[in-house]
Amino acid sequence: MWGRAMLMVVAVAVASCSDEQLHLGRGINLFSRYGYLSISMRVVPRNDTDLEWIFREPTVDIFRSAMNTSLQTPLQASTEMTNSASPVFHGDFHMEFCDNLRQLLQAYFRDFTFERLDKPWRAFTASWSRAAVARHLGIRSSYVTGQHCYVLVRVSRHRESAKLGTASKDLELDEAVEQEVDNVQVGNAASVIEFVRNFGSDSIASYATGNSLYQVFVYNPPIYRSIKDRLRTQGVSNLSNVELASLFSPWSAEHIGEIQAASGNATVEEWATENLRIHFYLFTYTSLLKLHQNGNLLRKLDSLLGNEALLQLNLRMLSPAFKDSIKQQWFHEVIDNYLKLWEVNM
Ligand SMILES: *[C@@H]1O[C@H](CO)[C@@H](O)[C@H](O)[C@H]1NC(C)=O
Ligand SMILES: *[C@@H]1O[C@H](CO)[C@@H](O)[C@H](O)[C@H]1NC(C)=O
Ligand SMILES: *[C@@H]1O[C@H](CO)[C@@H](O)[C@H](O)[C@H]1NC(C)=O
Ligand SMILES: *[C@@H]1O[C@H](CO)[C@@H](O)[C@H](O)[C@H]1NC(C)=O
Repeated sequence: MWGRAMLMVVAVAVASCSDEQLHLGRGINLFSRYGYLSISMRVVPRNDTDLEWIFREPTVDIFRSAMNTSLQTPLQASTEMTNSASPVFHGDFHMEFCDNLRQLLQAYFRDFTFERLDKPWRAFTASWSRAAVARHLGIRSSYVTGQHCYVLVRVSRHRESAKLGTASKDLELDEAVEQEVDNVQVGNAASVIEFVRNFGSDSIASYATGNSLYQVFVYNPPIYRSIKDRLRTQGVSNLSNVELASLFSPWSAEHIGEIQAASGNATVEEWATENLRIHFYLFTYTSLLKLHQNGNLLRKLDSLLGNEALLQLNLRMLSPAFKDSIKQQWFHEVIDNYLKLWEVNM
């Protein structure tokens, strides 16, 4: 009875000071949804009607106020895709070779890095069934096996990004956090867990939001190896357009996945289906490669990709909150044990 009442009080207290905010420095509990983060962060198309949110993982203020602007160093998100002075596309066209399924998932979550986690992509994908992997990556589930190789092609448009500046080291902790730091006792794992439950395991060190279009090409291993070799020795820019088209056509690929938007925005996906169609000999299919060196299409896409999905996230452990180095070490030890357990068991 008492236990239950206490729990409810704690739950209410946490709820009142935690909300769903993607802000620098806020505390986030990586354990509460390890393996399921794609439920609370929009990183792949979802089957939901409410498309308004990007990030709904609860976060908590852990530093004293006024940290929002003082620490923010705005990032220039543009690898400009043209030599002219005004870029046609503010973003990045990227191709990644993946020898197997694990590398494909790793590639998809390449820009998500969580301190002390060796496989941050698992925090999103560990719960995904084979059907879910197929759906999220836009390929047929018969190709989600150990017998294939993949190329992930992605065009990302960043809209908003922020990164903690160097001044973050001098931040003062919120009083409530300071108290909870005092309550953590070396040798007592439960006190660390209690801290994590209230304020999180990590804090948000940088993030970027926007939208992207991506597509997965599936190959059988011998053909994949020859393409990978060809591109490694020649570079994309040295290949003729015909050769490039051929390598990424049904001529070479076993299967060409759907073009999907990270946010799942149907308007953008329909635009891609209509405008990125390629005719290559007998084949007709849609391909992101059509954007390659096509200024008109890129310019159009630049305006279509809005601020709808989470594209990058870097989390840092909350350990700097512990000024006492022995306490800090204990915090690491407990968290590491939990993280290893998750990584092994999911
Ligand atoms: C999406 O939701 C609709 C309606 O709820 C359902 O019929 C459909 O099977 C779902 N699709 C996926 C891929 O889950
Ligand atoms: C910091 O954020 C709070 C709430 O989000 C806002 O009310 C306040 O004006 C911001 N501070 C500055 C200096 O912009
Ligand atoms: C393109 O080919 C030339 C000559 O074969 C070579 O010198 C150059 O390094 C290649 N470029 C790339 C990006 O590999
Ligand atoms: C989807 O993208 C289109 C084109 O950028 C935009 O007009 C529309 O508002 C977006 N829809 C949602 C639900 O975000």
